[in-house]
Amino acid sequence: MWTARRGRGARPARIRRKRLRMLNEDERREIDAEIALLPTRRSACIEALRVVQRRRGWVDDQGLREVADYLEMSPDEVDGVATFYNLIHRRPVGKHVIRVCASVSCWILGCDSLIDALRSRLGVELGGTTTDGRFTLLSIQCLGTCDHAPALMIDEDTHRDVSAESLNEILERYK
Ligand code: FES
Repeated sequence: MWTARRGRGARPARIRRKRLRMLNEDERREIDAEIALLPTRRSACIEALRVVQRRRGWVDDQGLREVADYLEMSPDEVDGVATFYNLIHRRPVGKHVIRVCASVSCWILGCDSLIDALRSRLGVELGGTTTDGRFTLLSIQCLGTCDHAPALMIDEDTHRDVSAESLNEILERYK
């Protein structure tokens, strides 16, 4: 059966209605909770991406399209948000993601030494993932804790006043 508004590109309704694979029930429940707090569905875009990332490890193109579909946005719009917001991973990452602040306060107080220590200890360059998949090492802009520089994040945790010496003890917490 064809839709009423035929014309160039018109397709049978059963094809036009075909949906993308959906977010799973738990993902939808979490995103719905965010939507309930916000004025529009699209306002929940970042949180929806974070939900998918938390559950799947990163946001692939399929996950991005599912979020777009659920929030009634275009994939390009959601991709723009994901690209702008640097806590969303659009490529596979390790089990734990280390983000070392490389902004000015942390730079003055030695983030380069931290990065060198991490590169040496983990055997990866910035942007890389350890061979065992345990850590991905990234840099990031200011974490908003400049009075406790240098700082880094591992997953959702912020670590302040970090030194090359304290790194081992911190990393040991992330198995
Ligand atoms: S400059 Fe590193 S936390 Fe602000």
